[in-house]
Parts: sequence; C-alpha cells; structure tokens
Amino acid sequence: MFKKKAILFFGSANKNGFTFKILNKILKKLDEKYNFLLIDAYEKKVHPCIGCEFCKNNFRCKFKDFEDIDKNIVNAELIIVASPVYNLSIPSTLKAIFDRFQPYYFLNSSDNKKKIKKKRAILVLTCGSDETDFTIVQKQISASLSLINSKIDTKIFWKNTDKNSKITSELINQISNLK
Ligand SMILES: Cc1cc2nc3c(=O)[nH]c(=O)nc-3n(C[C@H](O)[C@H](O)[C@H](O)COP(=O)(O)O)c2cc1C
Repeated sequence: MFKKKAILFFGSANKNGFTFKILNKILKKLDEKYNFLLIDAYEKKVHPCIGCEFCKNNFRCKFKDFEDIDKNIVNAELIIVASPVYNLSIPSTLKAIFDRFQPYYFLNSSDNKKKIKKKRAILVLTCGSDETDFTIVQKQISASLSLINSKIDTKIFWKNTDKNSKITSELINQISNLK
C-alpha cells in the first residue's frame, strides 16, 4: 500500500520515557498509512538560529545541518510533534529546530513563495504535573507549524506523569481512533 510522508519531531531525551511510550502506540496505529522520518531533537542537535537574517534574502539557512529536514518538509502530509513539557515550554533542542523554521517565515511573505504541501499535525505532550497549563506551549508550537503550512488537528496530552505512570484508557481510546 502507498504510504504518505510524515515527519516526526521527537523532543524527549529519554528513549524509554513517557513521551516515547505513548508515541510508540501512536506510531503502531499510524504505521500502515505513513512513512515516518524521525527527527530526534537531542540527537540532531541543530545549530540554534542566530537571527542573522541570511535567510531573509536567501530563503535558506547558512548552517547546513537542516537540509535533510527541509527536503522532506515540502511534501510531507503529516507532522507529529511529541515532547515533554519543560518549564511550560519544550526542551531547548526541539525549540532550536522550530527556530530554524525562520527561512519559511521569509519565504511565506515573499514573491518567491514556494508551495509547501498543506499538512495536518498531531501534538503529543507529556508533563509531570496535573496542573500544568498547556496554553503557552500550544501557541508556540502552532505558530511554528503554521510556517510550514501545518495545522494541529489532534492533541494527545498525558498529564501528571509524576503520579500517573500508566497510560489511561482514555488515551488508549483516543489513539485507537486516530486516522
Ligand atoms: C527541566 C524539566 C522541566 C520540566 N518542566 C515541567 C513543567 O513545567 N510542567 C510539568 O508539568 N512538568 C515538567 N517537567 C516534567 C516532565 O514534563 C515529565 O516528567 C515528562 O513526562 C517527561 O517526559 P519523558 O519521560 O519523555 O522525558 C519538567 C521536567 C524537566 C526535566
């Protein structure tokens, strides 16, 4: 069966942590439909954006460590962002990746506008507390994803991992209904 292209941005340093655990179930569910390119933020360690504005005129970054991601962004049809919450935000390694979307900001507001395929996005967040407010982190991620023509249509949030170390049946149900 023909599989659609998907990019997975993985923001956890723990290869056996909560984020990985829930992501694994999601991937098993979506594996039939999508081919995933995994971008592990802690392994990829992209150079942080330095705001030099090279991309303002060149529509690409002067650092070359992002080209494999760029190549795949244009045609991907699904983005998954899976990350723990760090200080109401995302780990710095994943934030560095989103900051590197800056060439798309300039590309989108230029005459050179390149056609980036419209894509859906799934946001997967885990956090230790039951009381963490996801407003800021969702806004951050949505803003970055909009630069690559991508919109979150599904949110899977595993809160309170400090105390609830087992995936709840509600989350399992949500995953089994994923399209
Ligand atoms: C540096 C750091 C900052 C954190 N900040 C928050 C936070 O603001 N709110 C929260 O609920 N949990 C916070 N946590 C807890 C993690 O989000 C939680 O343990 C998460 O499930 C870890 O995912 P992982 O097992 O994939 O690493 C933080 C953890 C670390 C290490």
